[in-house]
Parts: sequence; structure tokens; C-alpha cells
Amino acid sequence: MKKNQSRIINTVFYFLLISMSLQAQIDGSNLWFAQSQLHSHNHSLQPKSLVVTDMDGKLTLASNELLNGLNQLFQTSIKQKSRVSKGSVWLSLTNNSEVIQFIDPQELKALGEDGFIIKYIDEKKSVLITGNNQKAVLYGVFHYLRLLQTVAIDKDSLNITEIPKYKVRILNHWDNLDGSVERGYAGRSIWKWDELPTKVSPRYKKYARANASIGINGTVLNNVNANPHILTTEYLKKVMVIASELRPYGIQVYLSVNFASPAVLGGLDDANPKKEEVKDWWKNKVKEIYELIPDFGGFLVKANSEGQPGPMDYGCTHADGANMLADALKPYGGIVMWRAFVYNPKGWDRAKQAYEEFLPLDEQFRDNVMIQVKNGPVDFQPREPLSPMFGAMKETQVMPELQITQEYLGFSDHLVYLGTLYQEFLQSDTYAKGKGSTVAKVTDGSIYNHPVSGIAGVANIGEDNNWCGHHFAQANWYVFGRLAWNPDADVKTIAEEWVRQTLTQKDKVVSSIVEVMMNSREATVNYMTPLGLHHLMGWDHHYGPEPWCVVEGARPDWLPTYYHKADSIGIGFDRSSTGSNAVKQYFEPLRSEFDNIATCPEEYLLWFHHVPWNHKMENGQTLWNQLCLKYQEGVDEVKKSQEVWSKMKTYIDEQQFKEVQEKIAIQLKEAIWWKDACILYFQTFSKQPFPEGVEEPVHKLEELKKLKFDLKHHN
Ligand code: GCU
Repeated sequence: MKKNQSRIINTVFYFLLISMSLQAQIDGSNLWFAQSQLHSHNHSLQPKSLVVTDMDGKLTLASNELLNGLNQLFQTSIKQKSRVSKGSVWLSLTNNSEVIQFIDPQELKALGEDGFIIKYIDEKKSVLITGNNQKAVLYGVFHYLRLLQTVAIDKDSLNITEIPKYKVRILNHWDNLDGSVERGYAGRSIWKWDELPTKVSPRYKKYARANASIGINGTVLNNVNANPHILTTEYLKKVMVIASELRPYGIQVYLSVNFASPAVLGGLDDANPKKEEVKDWWKNKVKEIYELIPDFGGFLVKANSEGQPGPMDYGCTHADGANMLADALKPYGGIVMWRAFVYNPKGWDRAKQAYEEFLPLDEQFRDNVMIQVKNGPVDFQPREPLSPMFGAMKETQVMPELQITQEYLGFSDHLVYLGTLYQEFLQSDTYAKGKGSTVAKVTDGSIYNHPVSGIAGVANIGEDNNWCGHHFAQANWYVFGRLAWNPDADVKTIAEEWVRQTLTQKDKVVSSIVEVMMNSREATVNYMTPLGLHHLMGWDHHYGPEPWCVVEGARPDWLPTYYHKADSIGIGFDRSSTGSNAVKQYFEPLRSEFDNIATCPEEYLLWFHHVPWNHKMENGQTLWNQLCLKYQEGVDEVKKSQEVWSKMKTYIDEQQFKEVQEKIAIQLKEAIWWKDACILYFQTFSKQPFPEGVEEPVHKLEELKKLKFDLKHHN
């Protein structure tokens, strides 16, 4: 071939590659691998070679990731060599005799299973990435690539030891076997049960890779409202295939199980956990699972909650049920994640019930059981105080459950960065062992020491091209993973990491977008449920405002009026010592602080108190005025983010820009809908005019009340 010809072919190939990568970038399918661009300060860091010390091929995946990542970032083809020399990046397991020369064995031991070291070795003038096993090295590789893209690094800063705080860092998919996703807003399930086990979607590997890149190491494939059929041999063979796709990336598979399975599937008379035949059924089922999936993680269970069967159906306790499963799993190293999301329609304060049911059982659970507790005492609201379960259960490991999917926060239509919500929760002080006993510390093993620890996030993933429905919803998956690794990490830094890897490297643009993200959750709290209000969302679907909602014969604790209790005197749920006394479940000084209307933080005021309309707030406004102003503040913040985003046009990929712009327009329309609906409705109780600074409603209350929700109403 002539030289010219080959040059032309090369050029065409190059442009093809570029257009392919742009193509992949614009639809969001590449997640946070979209940009593959260096941080502007890191251009001089191009490695001279890659050296992989790997006798038995354990590091193939990690070295491929590293090589491809470096080649893309530096737009070159980095050579692989067998000897470390000046400028190498060196990948090795810790059990290598050379590595031991440079790192103290104690330090290596402390890394445990998942920790890694990235270190500039002066003697070799090269960068070492090492860990005790292949998964840890892979985490190190992803971290190194992330650093190159997100911060200015130098030799001195390359002295990093990272050890994850939680052992189990897990996504919970609420995916049904028919392909639908409960509370999913990104299309149907990514698990193609109909096609498995023969056809294997390429998405499984991409999913695993994305999770590994942020440190997630487990996934529960199916909905907590579990279909017993997941445990049939037919389905277990499908699960086995998914597990083998995810395994190379260090992702263990877990399943949600239906407590009645022995009766429904096994034909037993019932599922009484005290009966030998029931125990045996579970033991045999677990054995079958481990024969197919030797590294199976364990079970997640929703029992005696919202109509699900459980041990209480037989006069047994949660501990009896959980322990029976724990005993079956124990020989294989499996765990049980038993959910504390329980409440009954007759209890007059739903927020108190989990604590009342579970605290007496502390000390009774096996050590391979974790109690999985939602962040707040009710249900994934835009803002809740911490659940009093955290810190209170001392003998049992408690694991936080966060929601990544935006069930109560505008689905995948609203831009809400949940990092700030997660941080607020994880850094909340329980005072269980005095000041500084944050939720993070009472659950990650720093304060109570149990053999296992974990944190779960309810996934927002579906088969949409961009995985999460809204481009920015990817950031919530991302931040969950990063906080599961380190719950004390700074969520603003994490937002910036995500923006640089996903959208742009332009410093000014990055900071504007990060600001929008950082303010977005507070904005949503304000236009939906300010000052401690909660559960004002529409019946069942939980989208849009329906504070007036009445449904004939409905459970009271599923209705907004149960929560806001607005009347001619005021608004809010009295959980103080003169009300439901939910405050009693907290440790001092939180208990007294929440109990006293004068010291209760204003963001939780209407959560804990029924407050008169004319109550004076900290800034001198009456409660009524402040409530209206907060709704307005929420709307104004969305307007601001719309303005900021409109200026991004020249910096962001066209499709991404347009899709986000369209979503923000919906969000603004709906923020106004929320504000109008709530202030007009609450005005029927307060009988006061709107204060200055609040825009006149564009809607009429009677029209809003008639509005019937359907998913397309905002189009
Ligand atoms: C919420 C949600 C349900 C879900 C439940 C749970 O109530 O609306 O769809 O099943 O939480 O966490 O179990």
C-alpha cells in the first residue's frame, strides 16, 4: 500500500473512532466513562511503559482496563514491558517479592480484601498499584484513572492507601421477573429473564464494570416484594449466568426471597421457621444455590411488611425468621439482610414502629444477619431526620438503606443530586456513644464491631440508553458507590469528579454545574416538602402534590393528611413528648432538642411539632409566611439552574445539553405546580394572604385537585 493511501485510511479510521466515541458519549450510555479526558494539569504524566507482574493471569482484566484507559487518556499506545523502569506504571499483587521491598507488610495486611495502594516509588521512578487480590488491584486501577481525570496529581500526592469502610456495598434492584421495575423510571429491567440463560445481554458486563469502578461489590437482582419463583431451579440457572458475568468485576450476586417460598414452591403446609421441614427446605435450597453459584452473597428479606409473608404469621419473631435463613447460609459464608421497613395500619405513628418492633430483639440475631434500615423513619422522603434505629441496636449490625431511584423526588424528571441528602444522613449524629457517633460511624464498624458491615442503595437503573432516565441521575448511582466506599468523603468533590468524567473538563463550567447539583436537593425539599413536611405526594404513584388526597377505605398511613395534619390552628405532626413521643426513641441531647419547639431545627419543625400558623420563626417571619417563602425559594432555585444550564450550550455535547434542558423545563413547571398546590391548599386552613415575595399562583386549587396523574401529563 502506498504511504499516502495508508495515511488516508489512518485519518479516516481516526475520525471514525472520534465520531464513534462522540456518538457513545451523547446518549449517556457510557456513563462516567464518557469523556476519557485528562485533567488539564496531568498531561505531563504520560507513563513510559506498563509493567504487569502477574504469573497466573489474575490481573488480566485490571491490566486491560489500565492499558485501555491510559491509551485513551493520553491518546497514544503505551508499551507493555516486563521490567519496571523509569516512568513505568507497575501493576502487581502484594505477594510479589519486589513489592514487599517497598511497602511495609503490616500496611499490606491492613488492606484486607478490597484495599489498595497507589504509590510513587522513588527508587524505581515509577508508580505502583497493588492490592491483596485481583479485585483490589482493579479498584486501584479505576482509582488511578479517576485521579488522572479529576485532580491535579504529582509524585507526592501519589501515596495513597484506600480501604473501604463498609464490607458489603450493594445495589438493591426492585426489578420484577416480568421485566417491570417497581419505582423504576429508566425503562424496563436490565435483567432479561426471558432471554436467559441462553442469551446474555452485553449490558451485564458494562453494569459490572461501572459498579466496580466506584467500588460497589454486590447486587440484589430482584424486588424486595419477591416473587417466590426466583428460587426455582429454572431461575437459579439464569441467576448463575448473570453471576458469572459480574464475577470478574468483583460483584457478588444476592437474591430477595419470599418468606413463604417453602410453602409456595416446596409444597409444604406452611413456612413456619420453627418447623424442621421448613428449615430443611431452606438448607437444601441454599445448597442448590451454592452448587450453581459458589460465591453467592446471601438473601435480602422483606417480611411482615406491606402484605409480605413473614415469621410473625406463625407467632414467631423477625429474629426467628432471620436466624433460620442465616443458619442455612452460614456454612457457605452467606449473609441475611433483613429489612426493618415494617409498620402496621393501626399504629398511630408509623415513624415509631420499626424501632418498637426491632429493639427488643437486639441480642437475638445471628452474626451473619444485618438489619437493613432506611435512612429516615418513614420512607425515603426528600428530607427526614435519621431513623432512631441507628446507634440504638448495638448487638446487631445495622446497615443503612438509601434510595437512589427518585420515588419521592420527581422520578427521573427532576435534577436532584442526592449526594447532599446522603451526606446529611451519614453525618447525622446519633449520640449513641456520645458526641461524634455519626450514622456512618455506628454502621461502618468504627464504633460497634461486628463481623460484617454494609450499605445498600435502591438502584435507579433500567434499560434506557442513559441507564438512569436523566443524565444527572447517573451522578446518584455514582455518589452512592463512592460513599459506600467512604461515607466520610466530600460529596461536592464527588460531584466534581462525576462532572469531569461525564460532561466536561472546563474548570468554570465544572464549577457552575457542581453548584447547580449541590443546591438541587434543598431546592426540591423547598418546592415539595419544606420545614419538615413529608409525604404530600400523590396516592400510590408518589409523583406530584396531593396534600388533600382522600381515598375511600385507604390505610391512613398512606395518606398525606395523616402526615401534615393541617387545621385551623396550624400544621405538622406532633411527635413531641406531648404527642406521639417519637422523640423518646432518640438519644440525648437529640431527644430534648427535637422535643422542644424552640430548639428543634427548622428543617424538621413540622416533622416533630404541630405548629401554630403565627409561630415566630428564627428570621422573625410567621410560620405561614415562611412556609410560602420556602416554596417560592424552591421554585426560584430551579429557575436559577435553568439559567445556568442554558449557558452550557457551547460546552456540553448537544444531545446531553438538549435532553437535560428539556427535563429542567419540566422540573420548573412542576416546581410551580407543587408550590401552587401546597400553598393554595394550606391557605384553606391558615386563611392568610400570601406574603410579599411569593408569586401569585398560576393554577387554581380546584383544577389541581381534579388533575389525574398519568405519566405523560407533563409532556
Ligand atoms: C415504599 C415503596 C414501595 C416499596 C417499599 C419498600 O413503600 O413505595 O414500592 O415496596 O417502600 O421499601 O419495601
